[in-house]
Amino acid sequence: MGDVQQKLTIWITGASSGIGYALVERYLARDYQVFASARSEGKLSELQANPALTFIPYDVTDASQIDHVRALIQQQTQHLDCVILNAGNCEYLDPQHPDWEMMKRIMSVNYFGLVNCVAVSLPLLKKAQSAHLVGISSQAVQAAFTQAEAYGASKAAVRYFLSSLRVDLQSSNIDVTCVLPGFVDTPLTQKNTFSMPFLMSPEDAAARIESALMKRPYEYAFPKRLSAMLWLARCFPKRWIAMTAPKQ
Ligand SMILES: NC(=O)c1ccc[n+]([C@@H]2O[C@H](COP(=O)([O-])OP(=O)(O)OC[C@H]3O[C@@H](n4cnc5c(N)ncnc54)[C@H](OP(=O)(O)O)[C@@H]3O)[C@@H](O)[C@H]2O)c1
Repeated sequence: MGDVQQKLTIWITGASSGIGYALVERYLARDYQVFASARSEGKLSELQANPALTFIPYDVTDASQIDHVRALIQQQTQHLDCVILNAGNCEYLDPQHPDWEMMKRIMSVNYFGLVNCVAVSLPLLKKAQSAHLVGISSQAVQAAFTQAEAYGASKAAVRYFLSSLRVDLQSSNIDVTCVLPGFVDTPLTQKNTFSMPFLMSPEDAAARIESALMKRPYEYAFPKRLSAMLWLARCFPKRWIAMTAPKQ
């Protein structure tokens, strides 16, 4: 077992593309020792020459690998200063031909996957002087979106799980932040056929997240213009439904 003495350490999941990959780039630029996970290396293969980056393959739905994944990280460090639990997937429910198994699939990645990653990382975060546990939810939880029964519910579960965990870790060395991104141009959203207001690049999203996390807020929702729009949706739910419901 070695230990990375000088550098701050971070574990980022869902790191092979999109927001996760852009976060890896940012934290490498800030001289962190980065542990990056996904099922496949994806874009991370472009960075593998960087000695500050270690790829830890992990399918977050596999609870049987929790101890193994922690052991892989422990080959280099006994503690983690920060984790960003970002792995996720999106599928839409077709109300005409509902695939109810899909509900379980999405919960298993977005919610239970995040819980598995907390199980991996909590013992390592506890060993840091001052640690930060970050989970990625979504602005989708701020108002009901069509066909988002699975995705929205999984992200609402993430948000509640993190808020409850924050209470239970209050007297510990670990701060907990829930991030609620708006629309980001990644493989996850590139299949969307509807309009995505205030769409931004993954690099922009990662820059905003990294900057916001420095203050360790309970929650960070962005962009603010989308938050405002969804606040109005909650104030006028009938109008929102009339505007967004699929036309028959
Ligand atoms: N894009 C948006 O507009 C948006 C908005 C709000 C929230 N988010 C959230 O942001 C996070 C990142 O999404 P993204 O937009 O950057 O999408 P993305 O580019 O598709 O990235 C998703 C990442 O999750 C990984 N992943 C998926 N299933 C996994 C599994 N079973 N085990 C381990 N890793 C898995 C993928 O890698 P592998 O396939 O290699 O495993 C990939 O690295 C997600 O949680 C998403 O819900 C995105």
